[in-house]
Amino acid sequence: MNVEKIRKDFPILKRKDDGKQLIYFDNAATSLKPEAVLDEVVDYYSRYTANIHRGVHKLSQEASEKYEMAHRKVAKFINAKHDEIIFTRNATESFNLLMYGLYNQKYFSEGDEIIISAMEHHANIVPWQFLEKNAGVKLVYAELNEDFTLNMDDYREKISPKTKLVSMTHISNTVATITPIKEIGKIAKDAGALFAVDAAQSIPHMKLDVKDINADFLAFSGHKMLAPTGIGGLFGKKELLERLPPFMFGGDMILSVERHSSEWNDLPHKFEAGTPHIAGGIGLGAAVDYLSKIGMDEIRSHEKEILEYALDRVNGIEGITVYNPMDAEKQGGIVLFSAKEIEAHDLALALDESANVAIRSGMHCAEPLVSSLNPKGLDRASFYLYNTKEEVDVFAEQLEKIVKTLG
Ligand code: ALA
Repeated sequence: MNVEKIRKDFPILKRKDDGKQLIYFDNAATSLKPEAVLDEVVDYYSRYTANIHRGVHKLSQEASEKYEMAHRKVAKFINAKHDEIIFTRNATESFNLLMYGLYNQKYFSEGDEIIISAMEHHANIVPWQFLEKNAGVKLVYAELNEDFTLNMDDYREKISPKTKLVSMTHISNTVATITPIKEIGKIAKDAGALFAVDAAQSIPHMKLDVKDINADFLAFSGHKMLAPTGIGGLFGKKELLERLPPFMFGGDMILSVERHSSEWNDLPHKFEAGTPHIAGGIGLGAAVDYLSKIGMDEIRSHEKEILEYALDRVNGIEGITVYNPMDAEKQGGIVLFSAKEIEAHDLALALDESANVAIRSGMHCAEPLVSSLNPKGLDRASFYLYNTKEEVDVFAEQLEKIVKTLG
């Protein structure tokens, strides 16, 4: 993988502030965008802007074809069928779609249980809390081991005939643990539960096959995988999506409407109400092309190299605590850390101001876990295909200086 060549595809990487080169280590929050994606978005707006599925004119035909093609590209990327990919705004909306669908389907009864892990993003916690309040469902947490891996014994002990859904992260957005998702799914299916996956932090970084892991549903965001913001997806097995009622009504999800009743469109349109984010969908298609061309195995392997180097550098700094499995085989490209006596936001601000290094600080939309590790929040450096060891050097050297000065 030629990282120098890849870096040239990302215009923002030319950015300097006060003469200092931007070092972007906030990829778990959102990724940078390559020219290939930006060009596709501009091309839609400048050459064939039109609404889709609504016009017989050339522009509408062209836009519809491109938007549909994007579904097919995403489907191929994760080994699904094109009508099993619903475009949403992001993984959060995907989980809400799933939750409201199951709720409207009356899938849950009072006393049923949903198992998630103790390292979920709010998107895979809060929608299920709605069901605790409104459907009498109990939310059960599978705990972590001391090294931040998932405690599979605890998960096995907690699953029971009451479990109706297991919804787990594939890669945590904080401690970065890669969960044994195939095994988790098998245990869930053997217990007769539905199996949903939060793949927001895995689809951008590694090869993922929904059939291989036997996911019933899988949520992801486009903006973390080089696509624009405002576009994401939900994969669902066709027979399950056919049974799931929609939760948003109008526009593209309609087949026919009478005064007091309506019929829904075919999949995936049944879940894509209103005019969708056409440019975003087309951009996501271009992002998938870009990632596929480089190769997901190459990307994962590059990130492992950067991660190992970064874990080593950061963990070696006196006064820094790292909260990760500390093994590149067991985790994604994230270093979660704190510095003794320096608040998370102060440290992130100091790195930004002194060396133009962008990291995330705070609760990371995973407050139950992060606040248990540090009630004042943590810092997070997260990597992607365009990051280099030289950037890690600048970051680690600056981090060490800041800790010495402020700590
Ligand atoms: N989910 C994103 C993050 O982890 C926003 O930062």
